[in-house]
Amino acid sequence: MAEIPGGLELVGLDASRLRDVLELDMWAFPTGDDIEEVLKIPSPLSWDRTFGLVTPEDPAHLVGLHASYPFTHCPVPGGRLPVAGLTWVGVHPQWRRRGLLSAMIDVHFAHCRDRGEPLSLLTASEPAIYGRFGYGLATRKGGLTLKRGAALREVAGADAVTIRFETASEERHGDLVARLHGAVERPGWVTRESPELQAYWLSDAPVFRAGAEALRILIAERDGEAAGYALFRRRDGWDEAGPKATVHVQEYVATDAAVVRAIWARLLDLDLVIEVTVGQLPLDDPLFALLVDVRAARPSWQDHGWARIIDLPAALTGRRYAADVDVVLEVSDTRLPDNAGRWRLTTSAFGTATVERTDGPADLALDVRELGSAYLGGFPLAQLAAAGLVAELVPGTLARASVAFGWPVGPGSSWIF
Ligand SMILES: CC(C)(COP(=O)(O)OP(=O)(O)OC[C@H]1O[C@@H](n2cnc3c(N)ncnc32)[C@H](O)[C@@H]1OP(=O)(O)O)[C@@H](O)C(=O)NCCC(=O)NCCS
Repeated sequence: MAEIPGGLELVGLDASRLRDVLELDMWAFPTGDDIEEVLKIPSPLSWDRTFGLVTPEDPAHLVGLHASYPFTHCPVPGGRLPVAGLTWVGVHPQWRRRGLLSAMIDVHFAHCRDRGEPLSLLTASEPAIYGRFGYGLATRKGGLTLKRGAALREVAGADAVTIRFETASEERHGDLVARLHGAVERPGWVTRESPELQAYWLSDAPVFRAGAEALRILIAERDGEAAGYALFRRRDGWDEAGPKATVHVQEYVATDAAVVRAIWARLLDLDLVIEVTVGQLPLDDPLFALLVDVRAARPSWQDHGWARIIDLPAALTGRRYAADVDVVLEVSDTRLPDNAGRWRLTTSAFGTATVERTDGPADLALDVRELGSAYLGGFPLAQLAAAGLVAELVPGTLARASVAFGWPVGPGSSWIF
């Protein structure tokens, strides 16, 4: 296990330490929220995966914290894998830049290995933090700012989808949301699997509202069966010209194109509203294609998910590939040297893959960070090579490998964790 600097001790935490966890979290992430109010929210933490750093002199106060969520069936291209979602990372300002995060990362990687999780994912507060630890930017999130009534292209069958609106609650909608969200087969689409995360997700505590209304849910049904939903909040607004409320769509899931169209047609036609925003769309979300005038919706994107390959053979054989390829990758990985060296990857299009160590000459050379970027299919190896981050040692191998690492469904996830 990793060495902890400064004589600090790593301690496993349990629910009795929630106040200490929140106090440290509020030092790491400044907030105006009242801790007494936050204590009322169901904690999303899986306590057996939550660890603090303390000084021997004052073990009651945490100076560092990290946790992970269990994503036991996380979609990857053509399959599902157990993945650790690194989260709640924080260091007290007084203790920053003394190597505490670095030590916690080593602890996290060791735990991933022990638990048999070949991949770790995270969403970062600041994109500059995690690359040094071998996390590569793997998914992006797209944003749109839509005018009320923005036109959508027609989709056959959309008229057969019925829509109803309710106030969201875990009790009434937890199962529906978990079932539809968990069925999405999109690489990187992590879902709230643990009961703690599920309870937290729809808890709609007042501190989550930030001046907007209670969490609402739009439920799309066909033949009496739920086929999609959207979680959203409206924010009141008026001026001398009249009503100007806005809607923010937190997340939506639709099982097919007709449901996508039916959901968005209703979200774009709510009374008193002038604008609808959505910020966490996968870049290939069908909504981008359905809009008649996508430019008017001011499309944008940001970094979203970061992927770290913990166990290279398990990760590379745990996904499928879009083409036949036989390629030798020379991988550097200073933090997890078991991943470093030459690996021969042999794949058949949409079939299984084998990975074995080899002494043969390498075709491509790259760091594990870039392998993480390419892993979910969102960043082509050719793009990374064009940026000087992947080296093609044998001409002609890059294009084939780049196609193989792609996937018909782009990566993405609908929430920040
Ligand atoms: C980000 C944070 C956890 C870093 O903890 P830390 O203990 O100071 O990190 P370390 O001392 O282990 O730093 C390791 C390396 O990362 C660098 N680093 C740390 N935080 C960084 C940041 N925010 N941006 C860029 N580089 C950063 C350090 O400079 C150091 O670089 P070096 O190895 O070249 O010297 C801490 O600053 C923090 O709690 N920030 C606020 C909350 C937050 O953003 N948490 C992350 C949630 S995803």
